[in-house]
Amino acid sequence: MDVVQIIGGNPLWGTVNVSGAKNACLPIFAATLLTEETCVIENVPNLSDVRFMAQILEHLGAEVAETVPGTWEITAKNITHKAPYNLVRQMRASVCLMGPLLGRLRQAIVSLPGGCIIGQRPIDLHLKGFSKLGTSVNINNGYVYLDGIGGMKGSDIFLGGRHGSTVTGTANLIMAAVLTPGTTRIDSAACEPEIEDLCQMLLLMGAKIEGLGTHYLTIHGVEKLNGCRYSVCGDRIEAGTFIIAGLLGKNDITVKGTEVRHMRSLLHKLEEANADITIIDSQTVRARGSLDRLKPLEIITLPFPGFPTDLQAQMTTLMALTPGISIVTERIYPNRFMHVPELLRMGANISIEGASAIINGVNHLSGAPVMASDLRASAALVLAGLIAQGETWIQRIYHLDRGYENIDNKLRSLGAVINRMADKDMPAHVA
Ligand code: EPZ
Repeated sequence: MDVVQIIGGNPLWGTVNVSGAKNACLPIFAATLLTEETCVIENVPNLSDVRFMAQILEHLGAEVAETVPGTWEITAKNITHKAPYNLVRQMRASVCLMGPLLGRLRQAIVSLPGGCIIGQRPIDLHLKGFSKLGTSVNINNGYVYLDGIGGMKGSDIFLGGRHGSTVTGTANLIMAAVLTPGTTRIDSAACEPEIEDLCQMLLLMGAKIEGLGTHYLTIHGVEKLNGCRYSVCGDRIEAGTFIIAGLLGKNDITVKGTEVRHMRSLLHKLEEANADITIIDSQTVRARGSLDRLKPLEIITLPFPGFPTDLQAQMTTLMALTPGISIVTERIYPNRFMHVPELLRMGANISIEGASAIINGVNHLSGAPVMASDLRASAALVLAGLIAQGETWIQRIYHLDRGYENIDNKLRSLGAVINRMADKDMPAHVA
C-alpha cells in the first residue's frame, strides 16, 4: 500500500485543472449498458473506481477500452445480468448497475453493496422505485434479484428518504425508466450536477426526460437508445477541495474546469466566512490565503443545492484553523467524522456531539503520522498536512486514489512538498 509524506508550510501558487467528476462518470459508465451501440465517454478521470467500474462492465460482457488517456469506448452488445459479490462489494457505486440492467434486459442479479466506513448505505429507496415500475424484488444470500420480465411500466415514484433524496437511487430509477413503456414521474429526485450530467448523456442517446436539474423528473419510455459521444462534467468536489487548499497559508490557487454554478453552496459559505475568493469566469475560481481574516461558520450538509457532505471533511480542516467556534453538522452521514481523530493528533481542537463537530480554531497544526479511512477524510488530512508545521505521513492513501486523479502531482505542480512511496519504504520512526 502507498503512503504520502507531506512537508507542510510551502506556499502553493498556480492554476489547477480539475478532472472529470467521479460521481458523474460512474453512473455514465453504467448507462452505456442501455444500448448495444458504442458510447464514447470523454474527460474520464484516471481513478481506481473508474477502472473498477470498467472491469465490472467487461465482466458483464461489454467491450471496454481506453482509446486515449481520458477517453473510453464502451460497447455493450451482448451482456449478462449478474454482477457478482467479489466485484460489487469493492465499490458501492456498482449498485447503479441495477437500473440499466433492468432497463435493457428486464432483469438483474446484483450483490448487496454492504455498508462502508462513512455509515450505513441502504438501498431501500432504489428497490421501492423498482417495485413501482413493476419489478419483482427478492433478496437472498446477499444478492438482490430483480425481475421485470413480467412487464414493467411507467409509474409515479416518490424517492425521498429519511436523509432526503438519493443520488445513485435517482440514477438507477432514471436508467430503468428510460426504456420502460409509459411515463415515469420521479418526485424528490436528487438534482446533484452529476445526475444532470447523466441525463444530458441519456438525452443524447435518445431518451425523453423532462425536469433536468430539478427534484421532479418526468421520463417517457422509448423503445431503444443509441450510442453517443459524451464528455463528463468537471468534478465539483475536487474543485472545492483545491479551493479550500487555496485559502490556507499564503497560497494562491486558481481552480479551473468545474461549473461555478455547481459550487454555489460552498462559495456562499466561504463568502460568509470572509474568504478571499474571486470568481474569474463561469468555470474558474481563484482562492487566496485567508486564515488571518476567516470567520467561524455553522455548516449543515444537505442534498444539492445544500452544502455537499463530500466537502464536509475538507471544510472541517479549514475551520480547525479558523479563530472561534465553528459547528459542522452531518445530515447525510451522521458518522462521517473519521477524519476528526486524525486531525486531533495534529493538534486540532474538535469535539463530536452526535452528528455535529464542534470546532475550536487553533493557530497551527503539527505534522504527524495519520491514517486515511475514506476518500474525503484522506483529502482533509492532505489539506492539514499541507499547512501543518513539520512532516505528515498519511497511510492507506489508496482511499485518496479512488476519487482524486494524480492529486500528489497536481499539488507538487503548485509547489507542495509531497512524496508518494510504498509503506515498506517509510522510515522506521514513522511506521
Ligand atoms: C452518492 O452516494 C455519492 N456517491 C457519495 O459520494 C455522496 O456522499 C452521496 O451521494 C451524497 O451526496 C456516488 O455518487 C457514487 P445517497 P449515494 O443514496 O448515492 C440514505 C464520495 O465521497 N439512503 O444519496 O450512495 C443514505 O443512507 C461518495 O464521492 C437511504 O436511506 O448516496 C444517506 O444517508 C461518498 N436509502 C442518504 O440517503 C436509500 O435507498 C444519501 O445517500 C439510499 C440512500
